[in-house]
Amino acid sequence: MNARPAEIPYDVARIRADFPVLSTTTRGKRLAFLDSAASAQRPLAVIEAVDRYERTSHANVHRGVYQLSQKATDAFEGARERVRRFINAASLKEVIFTRGATESINLVAQSWGQRLGPSDEILITWMEHHANIVPWQMLCERTGATLKVAPINRRGELDIEAFRALLSPHTKLVAFTQVSNVLGTVLPIKDMIAAARSVGALTLLDGAQAVAHQRVDMQALGCDFYVFSSHKLYGPTGIGVLWAREAILREMPPWQGGGDMILTVRFSGTTYNELPYRFEAGTPNISGAVGLAAAMDYLDSLGIERAHTHEQRLLALATVACHSIDGLQIIGEAKEKSGVISFVVEGVHAHDLGTILDDEGVAVRTGHHCAMPLMEFFGVPATLRVSFGCYSNDEDIDQLVRALGRAREVFG
Ligand code: ALA
Repeated sequence: MNARPAEIPYDVARIRADFPVLSTTTRGKRLAFLDSAASAQRPLAVIEAVDRYERTSHANVHRGVYQLSQKATDAFEGARERVRRFINAASLKEVIFTRGATESINLVAQSWGQRLGPSDEILITWMEHHANIVPWQMLCERTGATLKVAPINRRGELDIEAFRALLSPHTKLVAFTQVSNVLGTVLPIKDMIAAARSVGALTLLDGAQAVAHQRVDMQALGCDFYVFSSHKLYGPTGIGVLWAREAILREMPPWQGGGDMILTVRFSGTTYNELPYRFEAGTPNISGAVGLAAAMDYLDSLGIERAHTHEQRLLALATVACHSIDGLQIIGEAKEKSGVISFVVEGVHAHDLGTILDDEGVAVRTGHHCAMPLMEFFGVPATLRVSFGCYSNDEDIDQLVRALGRAREVFG
């Protein structure tokens, strides 16, 4: 893996060569992969790091005195340190490995959430993914707390005044996405965190759609919980991170019981392990952590800011191209957006459109994108969503536009 210092131009052709799947064909056509918001592709550096670990270093972690187990433990704990540096957490104790952003949110809901009662409120926004809605609904059912939802406008931006008005001393947690997975809207997180703090509420930030596209800094953000998944960051599936302030984690009861999260177990009672292990019951996803660390190395070697600039250029280009297509309506036109465009085409269901696009080699996501309340708000059953990664290029957009033209021919 070559370092690409800032003075070297962003060479997307060279970057694409790092991702083996991008040179494959689909249905006999060049693959235009435009679904990185669902799951990003893996570079060779990640594939090889996982392969190397599997071939040379695998054993269980934290358990063996033998050398191979120590090697695996070093690889796993080394990955934790890599994550800590990537997100600038103050301490390794604050970095908890989970199965992904969804599990991280459920961990907070089930552990921290136990303290809530009937007079407490949780505030979310209208553009949350189901993973940042349903765990809170379940928690409210268990505790009698109330879930409140901050509205958005037709451009897909948060109504910040309405958001502020919904905050009160009853608000115990404000949970919101940093970037909408459907609309690409970048939320005004600094203002939201400050507003939540002013009423004494904690904040949980869903960074799943943000962490691969902008630098995040746990010591600067000011939130209390931050969650993300590895597979949207060019790493393996089945692993993600919960970051939380150490002082908050210390007060949280364990959520899953089992090996590794205990110090002593007796039938008369159990004592729990130190942070972060207290929240990591059972054998973890060791190779996943190794792959995630390699993905972070890879992204840093590209320069996350440079990848972001590249994706913003593609976003602008694709937005103009979409506007030029008759009958196409973009859903979500916030002032500040990440590399995501959702749209509908008059008279054609998103799934039918997606199928035609697939025939033309264009891979996009269609459906409700795990955000049914948002679909309801915009009055559509589904959208077609295009999303970019560090390897997306102009040719992908050209192929998309050509495929949409073909779909118009098919559907009249
Ligand atoms: N949350 C992922 C998406 O938006 C699966 O597609």
